[in-house]
Amino acid sequence: MKRLFTAWLGLLTITGLAGTPGFTIDASHSAGNVSPRLYGLMTEEINHSYDGGLYAELIQNRAFQDNALTPVHWSAVQGDHSAATLALDPANPLNGKLARSLRVTVTAADKKNSAGAANDGYWGIPATPKTTYRASVFARAESSFSGPVTVAIVSDDGKEVYATGQFSGLTTVWKNFEVTLKTGRVTPTAKAHFAITLNQPGTVWLGFVSLFPPTWNNQPNGFRKDLMQMMVDLHPKFLRCPGGNYVEGNTVETRFDWKKTIGPLAERPGHACPWGYRSSDGLGLLEFLQWCEAMKAEPVLAVYAGYSLQGAHVNAGAELQPFVQDALDEIEYVTGDANTRWGAERAKDGHPAPFPLNYVEIGNEDWFDKSGSYEARFAQFYDAIKAQYPHLKTISTYGDDQAANTLVKSRKPDAIDGHYYRSVDTFLKMSPDYANKYDRSGPELFVGEWAAYETSFPPWDQQSQKEPPTPRFEAAIGDAVFLAAMERNSDLIKMQCYAPMFVNVNPGARQWRPNLIGYDAISAYGSPSYYAIQMFSRNLGDQILATASVGTSVQGCATRDSQTGEIIVKLVNPEPVSVVLNLQLKGVTKLQSKATAITLSGGSEDMNSIQHPRNVKPVSTVVSGVNPDFSYPLPANSIVVLKLKPR
Ligand code: AHR
Repeated sequence: MKRLFTAWLGLLTITGLAGTPGFTIDASHSAGNVSPRLYGLMTEEINHSYDGGLYAELIQNRAFQDNALTPVHWSAVQGDHSAATLALDPANPLNGKLARSLRVTVTAADKKNSAGAANDGYWGIPATPKTTYRASVFARAESSFSGPVTVAIVSDDGKEVYATGQFSGLTTVWKNFEVTLKTGRVTPTAKAHFAITLNQPGTVWLGFVSLFPPTWNNQPNGFRKDLMQMMVDLHPKFLRCPGGNYVEGNTVETRFDWKKTIGPLAERPGHACPWGYRSSDGLGLLEFLQWCEAMKAEPVLAVYAGYSLQGAHVNAGAELQPFVQDALDEIEYVTGDANTRWGAERAKDGHPAPFPLNYVEIGNEDWFDKSGSYEARFAQFYDAIKAQYPHLKTISTYGDDQAANTLVKSRKPDAIDGHYYRSVDTFLKMSPDYANKYDRSGPELFVGEWAAYETSFPPWDQQSQKEPPTPRFEAAIGDAVFLAAMERNSDLIKMQCYAPMFVNVNPGARQWRPNLIGYDAISAYGSPSYYAIQMFSRNLGDQILATASVGTSVQGCATRDSQTGEIIVKLVNPEPVSVVLNLQLKGVTKLQSKATAITLSGGSEDMNSIQHPRNVKPVSTVVSGVNPDFSYPLPANSIVVLKLKPR
C-alpha cells in the first residue's frame, strides 16, 4: 500500500495541487480490507475498574478478606442508647475458601435504638430514586438470637433511611438470607452507607454481604448499566480480557489465577491486584465472557505466561507445564462443549453454551522480562495451544518497538501486541509513517494498549493525582491521528484498543492517567478521547481507500462501505486555526450534494467531568455543495467524520 500511496501523491503534485491544503482520496479501487475486528476494548482491574466500577457490587470488602487485622470499610453502628463492637473472626469462617468472618456483638439496643455494622461502599453507597436493590447476607448467630436483622441504605448523617428490609431465622449454622430493598423519591446521592442492625442485644457473624442495584440486562452478579451502555455505544468487536499488569500480578502467586475466579461468589477469596488494592474476583472469567456476550464482542483471551511484574519468571519446561495446562483448561472453559471437563464446569456455573474465541494472548509486556525467558516460554505455550486448538491465533507480547522489532524467533506468532503511550506531539509526528516499518508478510499487529497524553505532562507525571483523571481535548487530537493511522493500515493492524478504559474519579481511587471513561458511584462521563474513538468506530467501511495529505498538517483516512458505496472520510486538524481543505476524490464522478459531518472540536484545555459530562461532544450537521472536488472548512483543533453518499 505504501508504494501505491507514494506514486499517487506524485501524480497529484504534477496536476498542480501542491501548495493548496488538500486531502486526496483514491476511491478508484480498494487498497485493502478493513479488519472487521479493528475497534475493541481493553480491560484490567486498575483505577477501580471492576470493584467500585463496572462490577455492580456495592459493598466493599464483602467477604472480609481485604485486611487480616481490621474490618476495613466496616464500622460499628451505635448511638447514645445502643452499642456494638466488630471483630474479624478467623475461628468462624464461612467456608474453607474464606479465611475469616465478621463478628458483630450488640451489647445494647432496642426497637428505637438499633446497633450493628455499616459498610461505606466504594466511595459511598448510591441511593437513587425508585430503585430495587438486592441484598444477600450469609449469617449465623449465637444460639440465643434468631432475629430479626434489619438491612438498610441510610444517609451518612443518619437522618434518612432510603430503603430497608428485614430477615429472621438465624441459627448457629451459616445460612444465606436474600432481601429486597426499594427506594422511593430520593435525590441521587452517594453520601450513604449500608447498615446491618439488630434491635436487641445479640451476637451475629457475617460471612459474606452483597448488595446489588439493577444491572445491565438484569444479569445476576452483573454490570453497571451506564458503563455498559457507554461501552456498547463504542460498537466494540472484542474485549482483551484481562489484559495489562493484572494478568501478570506482582508475583506468580498473585497472577490472575482464573480457576479461583469462577464458581459461587462466596467461595471466591479475591486476590491482591498489582495496582495496590485487593480484587474481589466477583468479576471473574465467566463474567468477562458474559460481558463480551452482552456487548456482542468476542474475547481476546490473555493467559498468564509465567512472568510477573516484580521480575519473577517460571522456567520453561517442567516448571512451566502446570501454567500451560492452566491456559489449556482456560481455553476449554471458554470454548469447550458441556461434555468436556472445563466446559462442564462452565455449564455448572450457568452458561452451557461455549463462547467464540479466535485469539489467545500469551502474557503481557514480556519485554520487561530481562531474563530472556519469553522465547522458550512462548514456544511452550504456542506448541501446546496449536496442538490442541490449531485454529486459534496466538499473540506474542514481545516484538514491537519496545523490543526493537525483535520477534520471538523459534515460532512465528500469528500476531504481536505493541503498546503506545505517547504524547500528542509524538503521535502527530509518528502517525503519518506509522506501520511503514513493518513487514506486511509478517505477523498481524495488535495494538493492545495505547493512549495519547497531553504533551506538557510527561510520562513520569502520568500517575499524578494533580492532573484530571481523564484527558483534555488536546489528547483526543493525538488519539485521532493515531486512530487514522491504524485505520489506514488496518489490513495489517487487525485489532486495537485504548487503555486504560475506566477510572473511578474519587480521590485515591486511581493509579493511572489518562483514562477513557470516568465515574463516581452515581454517574459516568466520556472524555473527549472517548468521543473521538466513538466517531471512528461507529463510522467505518470495509474497504481501505488510499489517502494523502498535501501541503497541510491535517491527517486522516478514508474507507468505503462496499454495500452502500458510502465513503467515510476522517480528518484531524491539529492546528489552532481553521483550515479550508481541498478534498479530491479520484475515481468518483458524482456524489450526493448533501453529506453528514460529525465534528468534535474544542480548546486544547477543554475537558469533560462528572460535573460537566458533555462539555466536549460530537455534533452532527448536514453539509451542502459536496462533489468529488470540493472545499471543506475544518474548524481549529477538530476531528471530523464526513459521510459522503454516492449518486
Ligand atoms: O494500562 C496500564 C498499564 O500499562 C498496563 O497494565 C500495562 O500493560 C502497561 O504497562
